[in-house]
Amino acid sequence: MNTEPKVTVAVVPGSFDPLTLGHRDVIVRCAALFDRVVVGILINPDKRGLFTMEERKQIAQLTLADQPNVSVEIDGGYLTDFAERMGAAVIVKGVRTTADFEYEQKMAHFNRTRNPKIETLYLPADEKLTEISSTAVREKLSRGEDLTGLLHPAVIAWLKDRK
Ligand code: PNS
Repeated sequence: MNTEPKVTVAVVPGSFDPLTLGHRDVIVRCAALFDRVVVGILINPDKRGLFTMEERKQIAQLTLADQPNVSVEIDGGYLTDFAERMGAAVIVKGVRTTADFEYEQKMAHFNRTRNPKIETLYLPADEKLTEISSTAVREKLSRGEDLTGLLHPAVIAWLKDRK
């Protein structure tokens, strides 16, 4: 048996437009399970973006500033190539609903055909946070509504400063 200490790295990928307190909960729980967590901000060609990739990175970093083993990266390529480059053997996705599960299952199958060595794990979303979504945040933003409870307070302050 190989007893060499092994650093385990997990990638939490998504379009994160923007990264919400629901995403944060999944990432923080993931950070307790793995040595290092890389949040991968990737392009989903089926989704029209509101924030630029750099803005999304800034929002993610503000939301996760208190997590020493979490870093944030942007990537324009395939998730499996990104995960491999990060040294990750695991992709973690949060799942809120059965619709999420069906979608993620398709992604996991696709990613597995590209690289069968990288496993996808699902974390069930916290029951109290299942209503939070980036879509809800974008809708509220467009109406100028309060985002308390959906985004990190530092992000809400950053958005106000930006106006
Ligand atoms: O749930 P999201 O936010 O749309 O996730 C985005 C992403 C890229 C993680 C997801 O769509 C996925 O797993 N895609 C697999 C294919 C891939 O690597 N796409 C990126 C370049 S086209």
